[in-house]
Amino acid sequence: MTTNIPETSKVAIVTGAGHPRGIGASTAETLRERGFEVITFDLDGADHIVDVSEAQQVQAAVDAVVSEFGRIDALVNNAGIGSGSARFLELSSLDWDLTFAVNFKGVVNCCQATIPHMIRAGQGTIVNVASLCGLRAVPAIPPAYTASKFAVVGLTKSMALEFGANEIRVNAVCPGSVATQMRSHALALLAAQEGITTEEAEAYETEMIALGKAASAAEIAAVIAFLCSNEAAQITGTAIPVDGGTSGGF
Ligand SMILES: NC(=O)c1ccc[n+]([C@@H]2O[C@H](COP(=O)([O-])OP(=O)(O)OC[C@H]3O[C@@H](n4cnc5c(N)ncnc54)[C@H](O)[C@@H]3O)[C@@H](O)[C@H]2O)c1
Repeated sequence: MTTNIPETSKVAIVTGAGHPRGIGASTAETLRERGFEVITFDLDGADHIVDVSEAQQVQAAVDAVVSEFGRIDALVNNAGIGSGSARFLELSSLDWDLTFAVNFKGVVNCCQATIPHMIRAGQGTIVNVASLCGLRAVPAIPPAYTASKFAVVGLTKSMALEFGANEIRVNAVCPGSVATQMRSHALALLAAQEGITTEEAEAYETEMIALGKAASAAEIAAVIAFLCSNEAAQITGTAIPVDGGTSGGF
């Protein structure tokens, strides 16, 4: 096995890290600052061009990482999409399939390819980027998105239970509103649905946030990096809201 990094360095895979303004790119940067060797997966702009909904592509990319670096200490399942209408009756079968293929099956595929390596190593940590929508329904968010993120939270808890004995921790972070391209799309959708401007949509959304502003991608990345660190050694099976207090009212 060839490796060009010190044996002590930790290796992380971050999916959905191709977009420069996204949570994934920020997570990759934060983990690198903290000493991780980070390998990114995305449809574009990443170290490995991988569609996470395609199990064979994921397996090949994970195997390539292991043969180059020898190990995978952390997996951050961040790739996600918001697809389709916010109205249930307008959602097509394709919207449901696409949303679940990426947001849910993508997590399954990456975990299935990675966990055997973590079991062999006797340790590992997985962070699934769910959403506040994985804990509660949020107005004007596509129901398929909400259902897929609830599924991710359920899977997180189930895997934490199963793989605790292997010293593999599995957690979810549940961001509220984060200033990325995905939020811009969500605000445009809300504006179109309500017949208001995007500025009005932003003001409406911001009103629900106790801290009065959307999070930055770096603020979400910091929590993900914490969950990947040894400081979180006793944390598994959690789904942590990182939402500026949006969830305070429920
Ligand atoms: N922005 C928010 O307000 C917000 C809130 C809660 C949760 N999230 C979640 O955070 C994660 C990151 O979102 P973001 O806001 O950074 O948006 P983003 O669109 O910048 O990032 C998502 C990334 O996933 C990639 N991706 C999409 N489909 C893929 C596939 N099939 N295979 C591989 N990569 C794929 C995209 O190319 C993109 O780079 C998502 O899972 C999203 O659901 C975002």
